[in-house]
Amino acid sequence: MKIAAVKGMKDVLPTAQGEDAAFNSRIWERIEAASRKVFALYGFEFIHTPVLEESRLFARAVGEDTDIVGKEMYAFEDRGGKHLALRPENTAGAVRAYVEQGLPMRDPVQRWCYFGPMFRRERPQRHRYRQFFQLGVESFGVAAPEEDVEILALCRDLVEAIGLGGVELRLNSLGDAACRPAYLQILRAFLEERRERLCADCRRRIERNPLRALDCKEPGCVEATRGAPAAHEHLCGACKEHFDRVIAGTTALGIPYVLDGRLVRGLDYYTRTAFEISASALGKGQQTAVCGGGRYDALVQMLGGPPTPAIGFAMGVERIAFMLADAEGVPAHSTDLFLAFIDAQGREKAQELARAARRRGIRTEMDLRGGKVSRQLSRADKRGARFAVVLGGSEVESGRARLKEMATGEETELSLDALVEEVWKRR
Ligand code: HAM
Repeated sequence: MKIAAVKGMKDVLPTAQGEDAAFNSRIWERIEAASRKVFALYGFEFIHTPVLEESRLFARAVGEDTDIVGKEMYAFEDRGGKHLALRPENTAGAVRAYVEQGLPMRDPVQRWCYFGPMFRRERPQRHRYRQFFQLGVESFGVAAPEEDVEILALCRDLVEAIGLGGVELRLNSLGDAACRPAYLQILRAFLEERRERLCADCRRRIERNPLRALDCKEPGCVEATRGAPAAHEHLCGACKEHFDRVIAGTTALGIPYVLDGRLVRGLDYYTRTAFEISASALGKGQQTAVCGGGRYDALVQMLGGPPTPAIGFAMGVERIAFMLADAEGVPAHSTDLFLAFIDAQGREKAQELARAARRRGIRTEMDLRGGKVSRQLSRADKRGARFAVVLGGSEVESGRARLKEMATGEETELSLDALVEEVWKRR
């Protein structure tokens, strides 16, 4: 019986090629390594929170009215009758942990990062999966707009470290509890005038959650809401000052951005600064978001903590991997040393030398199935080995062997005792 992977959930393997090149684990390795480096440069530390949380955490944090909670969450009752959900995103879980550990009072300034799977039961389509990975950051405890600038700078450096080209950072401010209600009234009036041209969902949204109408992908709604009033043009004094300082700081650091009054994000917890990074290379002419984030100054309190400012973002790893695969293809595997053997004596020596080489820090591989030396050497080639050595009874007895440089075919005879140091020097 063959069982296939669940629809919309992909395997990431070192063998993925062609159409599936974005799911090659070597590309993922590069993304992970680059992000680890940049996270560390900015003082962010890794968190690993549970993949399962109580459903009401997401209902409350992300919002009952959002597609993510309303339509896409993998929610179920467990055997004990608890209502649980596979996390559709990681901000809610991070805030839950932050509050649960009492950090708002004890040690409020935290810089956290993560890399892990999220789950949304969306309609499977290109660049949209039901299990997808996010790499992201959450910064707690700093209200200053300069923290927003730090996060945008980190985001930009991450894009560059990963090697993504052709992306655009779009910025907006969604205001706060003081100014958003007035803006929503202005937006409602604008939508009301165009009610007939909106889809059924958006007509319903006019009263409940008019911001969502600006995020609707229906062509009729996109057309009807062209020229809609922009949130960042209807801010109260405090929000305007915050946004002006974010813009000034971002400009001063030379980070390119565009203002986008339509940017509202698909989650309800945002206040003030909201941003996305999109790439045109992914969708056919259409912009696809590779990263989204913003401030969520009210969320810690909403989840039971004291008022605490916070900001963060998350990038979609599959989407980044698609861009890298398109731009550069799948990187080849490589190793430093391949040890081939002719007989049992050679195999024993190979294993002993492999251990010594690895302990020295030399990447070493063998083919322990043995067999024809020519086949072992073609495997050395396939694995991208820099050097190869063939070992047999006579090499073991004489204590000497030939170190072959795979690219040139050049061979050097040396003592087996000197092998590890020689490879270390030349690798
Ligand atoms: P989000 O915009 O829902 O934000 O997701 C962030 C990124 O995850 C998107 O820009 C996209 O690249 C990727 N993504 C989302 N859904 C899918 C999917 N079905 N398949 C593939 N990739 C997907 C959040 O999740 C917020 N928690 C970000 C954040 C952190 N805000 C503050 N802190």
